[in-house]
Amino acid sequence: MSPITHDRPPVRRALAAAAALSLLGFINAAPVLAQQPKLKIGMMLPYTGTFAPLGVAIENGFRLGLQEQGGKLGGREVEIVKVDDESDPAKATENINRLVSRDKVDVVLGTVHSGVAAAMVRVTRESGTLQIIPNAGFAPVAGPLCSPNIFRTSFSNWQSGYAMGVEMARRGKVKSVATIAWRYAAGEEAVKGFKDGFTRGGGQITRELWLPFPTVEFQALLTEIGAARPDATYAFFAGAGAAKFLKDYDQAGLRRTIPLVGPGFLTDGILEATSGAAEGVETTLHYGDGIDTPRNNAFRLAYAKTFKLQPDGYAVAGYDSASLLAIGMKAAGGDINRRKELYAAMEGATIDSPRGQWKMSPAHNPIQDHYLRKVIGNENRVVSVAVKALDDDPTMIAACRMGK
Ligand code: PHB
Repeated sequence: MSPITHDRPPVRRALAAAAALSLLGFINAAPVLAQQPKLKIGMMLPYTGTFAPLGVAIENGFRLGLQEQGGKLGGREVEIVKVDDESDPAKATENINRLVSRDKVDVVLGTVHSGVAAAMVRVTRESGTLQIIPNAGFAPVAGPLCSPNIFRTSFSNWQSGYAMGVEMARRGKVKSVATIAWRYAAGEEAVKGFKDGFTRGGGQITRELWLPFPTVEFQALLTEIGAARPDATYAFFAGAGAAKFLKDYDQAGLRRTIPLVGPGFLTDGILEATSGAAEGVETTLHYGDGIDTPRNNAFRLAYAKTFKLQPDGYAVAGYDSASLLAIGMKAAGGDINRRKELYAAMEGATIDSPRGQWKMSPAHNPIQDHYLRKVIGNENRVVSVAVKALDDDPTMIAACRMGK
């Protein structure tokens, strides 16, 4: 099929005229018929290290979304350039500069780790390159660092933690909680969110325990939790590190005595690697298993068929990134430089997502339901909606000057 879109008759008329001229020998039609340049997308994701499974799920989701658009965005073929960011903030500036300045990508899709995302937005805010963040919940991106060219399709770390705080407080039985997390932006924000939701409802944080990212030496801290006997433990870990934490928590004999809860990252995409050690763990996230809607069922079937894997919240954010970009590129008629139309369409879009429909906040962060999920076998089974149509941390909303 021709790469020229069907919704642009003037282009077709021009081509027909050019072809006629060519037949008459006036010009060679080949250069005129040359394809529009491909839309170049830089995928900056972790493919090694503790977050590698997350990077793969995001890429899979994005590719499935793209495939459902016929492989084109705004009528243009797509070229993907990949960079493994290793979730290493020290390499992030060089990696994003390579994509933006050397490869001259039109769009950046990335990343997972908040520290890497912080370095990325420093560059894309300056260059004006469109960036879609399919995971990193780094708060300032939808706060003081919000920008017309930066959109997030996942969550803020605060949101996912806050929903669990509200849920725990609502139960009334849980009065004291110990928190344990990797000490970097994401861990701190996910703990703050939980604290805001939980303490507002009367709960108390009795211990805050931290480890440097991405270390997994949990033993001493688990001993401390066992001795302190809080009503529950709230943990922020993800990927391979989360799998190790779940196994260690279980082996320390804590799973049955001190209930373990967390944002959904704690159990997403890694349950096969925990051999049952996470059974019963409760988490909150924008997605979960068993959302019985035609939209979600179709997505899950297509994902499983294509990748021989079950999707998770990371895959959904990757998939929705393709939907969002498709909406923007269509409105811009395939021209990434028609920024006004591109951004207006992305800002106003209702994303018909497997998670349920959602819209961007004025700060470009999803306003979305957060589900309470419980681990049953290898599933994060949705139990209820913990918080409906949740927006972001009020301090971040206030700090973003866009749309005001
Ligand atoms: C983050 O660094 O913001 C982050 C990383 C992994 C997750 C969630 C958030 O699963």
